Amino acid sequence: MLRTRFPTAHHFTVSLFGCQYHAPSPDVSKRALIQKFDKLVKDGALHVEKLEQNDLPSKVWTSHWKSPQHFKAWWERPEVAEFWAALPDDAGFWRETVSLPATRAMYESNGRDPHGSAHCGELIPLTEKMGCWGAYRSCMTQDTPDDKFSSPLPDLPEPKPLSDKIRPGRTRITNFPDNICFMVEGRDESAMPPRERAYWDDEFDDLAKQWITNVMTAGAAKGLVSGRACHAFADGKHLGASPFSDGKGVIECATATSTIPETASNGGILVDRIGPTIVPFLYVDSVGLLLALSVTSLRMKYWQPILIAQALLIVICVSLAFYSRMPRWWGKGTPVITNCQGKGASDDSGFTTTASSFASRSSSSSALFPGLDYPQQNLLLFWLDLSHIEHLARYDKVHVKLRHNFLAAYGPGGVMAGGDILLWVDMGILKGDEMDAEYVGCYEGSGFMAYDHDAAFESRRDTKSAGLPVFFDEPRESKPME
Ligand code: HEM
Repeated sequence: MLRTRFPTAHHFTVSLFGCQYHAPSPDVSKRALIQKFDKLVKDGALHVEKLEQNDLPSKVWTSHWKSPQHFKAWWERPEVAEFWAALPDDAGFWRETVSLPATRAMYESNGRDPHGSAHCGELIPLTEKMGCWGAYRSCMTQDTPDDKFSSPLPDLPEPKPLSDKIRPGRTRITNFPDNICFMVEGRDESAMPPRERAYWDDEFDDLAKQWITNVMTAGAAKGLVSGRACHAFADGKHLGASPFSDGKGVIECATATSTIPETASNGGILVDRIGPTIVPFLYVDSVGLLLALSVTSLRMKYWQPILIAQALLIVICVSLAFYSRMPRWWGKGTPVITNCQGKGASDDSGFTTTASSFASRSSSSSALFPGLDYPQQNLLLFWLDLSHIEHLARYDKVHVKLRHNFLAAYGPGGVMAGGDILLWVDMGILKGDEMDAEYVGCYEGSGFMAYDHDAAFESRRDTKSAGLPVFFDEPRESKPME
């Protein structure tokens, strides 16, 4: 396991950027804006990950910067300032920019290469403070001895629901409560060899998906301020946990895997592992059955061949069901995603509509959050404070089991010790002045705008692009305990 040693002479900055398509996929002008922005941000940041949100048609960039001052220098470059200033009132662009000191940030990973905020520091071995509850908290240094990293708010205000109404123009959040906890959980399953893939699918896949669903649907009552489940596109966009085990060996799950052009919209799987191939057959079959029954009862011409053809169709359908993945379906609960529309994989022409995407916000406990089959996943989360996510992680039975089984299988001496699944976590505790967010023509209820009816998350409407707050002007030192 590795962790990051962050610089102490200044904060480091993480800026999430996004562009909502306001349609199933970006139109020509939005696509041009996305491409232009992509180049601008890659030219300036230490590291950028380009993602797409699982449940809302939008692009998301996570960008990492050496310091707030480096971010400011880039933000004020003429080409960047002009780009942002020229965004139209319904642009759908937003940014949430946070800056963390070495005292209130941690990164942990089982991988050797840097991910997330590891780009802002130096990777070193993690030799202690792990494997026990409170491990993440123990990496943080308080600003004052009685600092418990607690929110000044007793509860999170009730958020406005995300709606399909766009708030025109520029909204700047001017106030944030102290101690909001920023967390990124990254997972990459693409390097796992077949044996590990099979093991992961049998032992961890359902648990991980259920836990992420529990996190994403935790809501304001459990302290989730904002959550975005996203997926990445390292070498093309692949939907589906590619091979999976049927208990006897590894089978390529062809129907659930497809490569989608990078410009495509995000997708989901109608019925996770049942095998989307079977669904059309079932439709054809039921229509055919009705037809056969009616001609049989009327004893119309050719009723015998129609009945035989129908019987054959039923045999084919049942065989297909058996030879694809029915055994796993029967054996493993009901991994059904409710808010995706009828395609094994989506492309520009077939896509979960905005309205159905919003439905996922209230998904029931039996439904999984969409898009969890992409092999590279990033969860971008803001919590009211650290205690809220600690509480959820310690008392949610699914995470407790996932954590316990993971430590046993991947820890020293475990059957998968040294395995190739990549997990990394970034966590930071933010003071109010270390946060900055603005939204240009985004859906009502997006990000922190969901709370701007409350004084704790006050906002203002800007008529033109405003500069960064004073926080970005001068470096501030921090002294972490080592
Ligand atoms: C495949 C997914 C996951 C696995 C296998 C997993 C496993 C683990 C393990 C092994 C630990 C102990 C780490 C240590 O002591 O250093 C841990 C802690 C923790 N995990 Fe997860 N986790 C997963 C996903 C998540 C996600 C998505 C979240 C959050 C939203 C989360 C929240 C936490 C928290 C807050 C702790 C620390 C609790 C404490 O210190 O008291 N985990 N997890």
